[in-house]
Amino acid sequence: MINRKDSYFRRAQAENYVARSAYKLLELNKKYNLIKKNDLVLDLGSSPGSWAQVCLKLGVKRVVGIDLSHTKIKDKDFRFIKDDIGNIDVKGMGNFNVVLSDIAPSTTGNFDAEASVDLSRKSWSIAKKVLKKNGNFLCKVFQGRGFEEFVKDVRKEFEFFKVSKPKASRKGSKEMYIIGRTFLGKTFTKNKKVYKG
Ligand SMILES: C[S@@+](CC[C@H](N)C(=O)[O-])C[C@H]1O[C@@H](n2cnc3c(N)ncnc32)[C@H](O)[C@@H]1O
Repeated sequence: MINRKDSYFRRAQAENYVARSAYKLLELNKKYNLIKKNDLVLDLGSSPGSWAQVCLKLGVKRVVGIDLSHTKIKDKDFRFIKDDIGNIDVKGMGNFNVVLSDIAPSTTGNFDAEASVDLSRKSWSIAKKVLKKNGNFLCKVFQGRGFEEFVKDVRKEFEFFKVSKPKASRKGSKEMYIIGRTFLGKTFTKNKKVYKG
């Protein structure tokens, strides 16, 4: 049985994080150095908002959060878009140093790992368009059908790549985090040749 009020839950309450997920990002960021002061961060599936809180504490310039559900986070450096990531038009959003995706399908009923991979792929498709060259990508994805293929597709776009499961992930959960550091750049074609930049 899942203990929803475990030590991370109690720590989050004591340290004023809106969710225990904060400790997953803190742990992965400490290990892989993904977020820096003054960065522009896009946070997909951001509610209730503990990852945004972590980013703001790290001194980023701005966090743009997108989620279907509302967030209570209020901060001058936080913008929130209440929408489905599938509806987002990236034109005019600008570019980001970091794209985070902790997106997960609703867990009521049978959990569908394939639906998770589809959602994570949507995050990746946004990230590919808005990440600055040398930017970083962190994305939750559940192990199941389509997982290996997704990992393979993302891996080749970064100088450094890892698949990791933080200690703060609940035991038995199939969630994994993929870490892409130093994005090789957007792909574009000129005179029928394919470039990165
Ligand atoms: C695990 S929670 C994210 C927790 C967040 N990182 C935090 O630290 O507070 C996953 C979120 O993904 C959101 N989500 C699921 N499908 C979505 C979609 N299609 N578009 C936008 N958000 C979505 C859910 O509403 C949920 O808030």
